[in-house]
Formats: sequence, structure tokens, C-alpha cells
Amino acid sequence: MKMKELLLFLSCVLCVSADALHSDIAVGGCSESDEENMYGLDGEEVAYADFNKKEEIYPQPPFIDPISYGEEAYKSSVVFQKTCREIIKLCGKGMKDFPPEQDAPSAVMIYTRDEVEFGENNTLICHVTGFYPAPVNVSWTKNGQKVTGSSINVPYPNKDGTFTQISRLQFTPQLGDIYSCAVQHLALTQPLTKIYEVEASAHSDPGVGPSVFCGVGLTLGLLGVAAGTFFLIKGNECS
Ligand SMILES: *[C@@H]1O[C@H](CO)[C@@H](O)[C@H](O)[C@H]1NC(C)=O
Ligand SMILES: *[C@@H]1O[C@H](CO)[C@@H](O)[C@H](O)[C@H]1NC(C)=O
Repeated sequence: MKMKELLLFLSCVLCVSADALHSDIAVGGCSESDEENMYGLDGEEVAYADFNKKEEIYPQPPFIDPISYGEEAYKSSVVFQKTCREIIKLCGKGMKDFPPEQDAPSAVMIYTRDEVEFGENNTLICHVTGFYPAPVNVSWTKNGQKVTGSSINVPYPNKDGTFTQISRLQFTPQLGDIYSCAVQHLALTQPLTKIYEVEASAHSDPGVGPSVFCGVGLTLGLLGVAAGTFFLIKGNECS
């Protein structure tokens, strides 16, 4: 019986998503120093060409049915880049009297992926958006010292033609630690820096607050019942 209900629920979810509109995006671009070919779906990365590893990468979460574009995906990106480089040379000549457009990031946010609990692995996220051209460089510090090991996604295009990039750093929150992410971009004369401080407002055990509160409430309630019973019996004795 339980199983039947579950299946019904799942098929309803599928119907709803089959009706919904999805937005698919394919991006190909190059500059003198950078190149990008990526596919996205509903604002998320589906695949991108890694020109260092010479293969198509599929950075998809484990809970979706994997989407793959087959063997030719990477090769077609290489062909695209060759054409792109030729076109950009021609454009460079034709447009040499026009200054290239440059927009500094309009927003940089730093936050944690999961709710902070001291001593438990977590991910710090530096979300940079509203810049043109791509990419940005993001570097991290912990208590003033440079840290390595962060990762960054390929630039994701926004509707207005600017880009978004997200840098991630694995970390274990310890009270008082201070992290920063510094963003470099062509249109910035100095890096844009955001600070994240592990504060005491985080908790080591989320259960303590509510359970103490409930315990005190319950004790008061029981005391009340005991007192009530006492006076009830006393009252009966008197009469
Ligand atoms: C936390 O991360 C470190 C290093 O990334 C790893 O060695 C450790 O096993 C992780 N601990 C847990 C509980 O996931
Ligand atoms: C990003 O870093 C690379 C390598 O260090 C450097 O060549 C490039 O100029 C940097 N880009 C920006 C926008 O600072």
C-alpha cells in the first residue's frame, strides 16, 4: 500500500515537470587568452569542453539521470575554437578603433553551502556575477594566509550578456577563523574582496536549544500538574 502511494506521488512529479518549460543554452566563445564551449540547462552546467584535459566534462549532480552529448562533443568544440580564433583576428582588425566593453562584477557574495556546524566539513562559496568579459580569477585566504585547492566553474552567461562564476573551497569551520575570497577582473584596478568569519552564532549541536527549551517546559508543566493535584486532594480533605 505504502509503495503504491509513493509511485503515484512520483508519477505526479514527472507529469508536472513534463509540462514545464526548460531553458537550454549552448555557449561558444573565445578571446585572445581564453576559450569556452559549454552547455547549460535551467541555469545549471550540463557539460563543458576541458581544453587542458582534452575531453568533455559533465559536472552533473549524482541525483539526475546523466545527460551526455556523445563522442563528438569535444571534437566539435575544438573545431569551433579554431574558427572562433580566426574570426576574432578579423574582428580585432575591423574594430581596432573601438575600445572593448568592460564591466566589473556587479555583485560578489560569500556564503557556506551547508548550515555551519563546528568541526564538520562544509564548502565556502564565492559567487561572482555581472562581469564582462569572462573570466574572473578568484583567490582565497584563511586567517590572512593564501589557501589553494579551490575550484571554479566555467563562466555561465546571464540574460543581459554578462557572466557568472562560482568558486568553491572545502573547509571545516572553527570558531574565529576568517576566510576571504578576492576577485580579479580586467575592469578592476584592485581585487574585490569579501570576508567570511566563522562566528559563535553557529552551533555545535542544533538539537540542544529546542530540547532544553522543551525539557524546561515539560518540567514546569509536570510541576503544575503536581501542584494542582496536591491542592485538589487538600481541598477534598478539607471539605
Ligand atoms: C573532511 O574533509 C577532510 C579533508 O577534505 C577528510 O579527510 C575527512 O575525511 C572529511 N571528514 C568527514 C567527516 O567527511
Ligand atoms: C588571472 O590569472 C592569470 C594567471 O595568473 C593571469 O594571466 C590573468 O591576467 C589574470 N586575470 C585577471 C583578470 O586578473
